[in-house]
Amino acid sequence: MSAPNSPSTPLSAATLARFDREVAKYPADQKQSAVMACLAIVQQELGHVSTDSEAQIAAHLGMPAMAVHEVTTFYNMYNQHPVGKFKLNVCTNLPCQLRDGSKALKHLEQKLGISMGQTTADGLFTLQQSECLGACADSPVMLVNDRTMCSFMSNDRLDQLIDGLKGAQ
Ligand code: FES
Repeated sequence: MSAPNSPSTPLSAATLARFDREVAKYPADQKQSAVMACLAIVQQELGHVSTDSEAQIAAHLGMPAMAVHEVTTFYNMYNQHPVGKFKLNVCTNLPCQLRDGSKALKHLEQKLGISMGQTTADGLFTLQQSECLGACADSPVMLVNDRTMCSFMSNDRLDQLIDGLKGAQ
């Protein structure tokens, strides 16, 4: 695992109390079952999950930091670095690639002036690829902020989405 990417900042007592509410849902000898919930709590409070936060979760749950890191890196929804206000995940798995998923990603790169994996200078948008979102027949598909599914994203619909999100600021 890489070194922590920021000086160690202890998670707050309120955050640890939220962890404990999740831990209480499992048998006492299976605290690590709460790891995904703890990662979600950290991300909700801090915007991303740093290696430092992973280490603190690991200590709290009595598990190796690497095991926490494996969970963080397995799922798209956990941000390992700060992201923009709107995180856009475009599915580019093979079924979607066959139905313009890659074209949708390219269109967003051009419209936002960034490459996949980057964040716009104003901090509004982060553009990422995603694995299958389970809606292959609706391609191109994308997820906004890990929650809002957008289907049949033609270039026109992508433009409307971006302009709408900008306009809502
Ligand atoms: S491959 Fe894109 S939603 Fe399944």
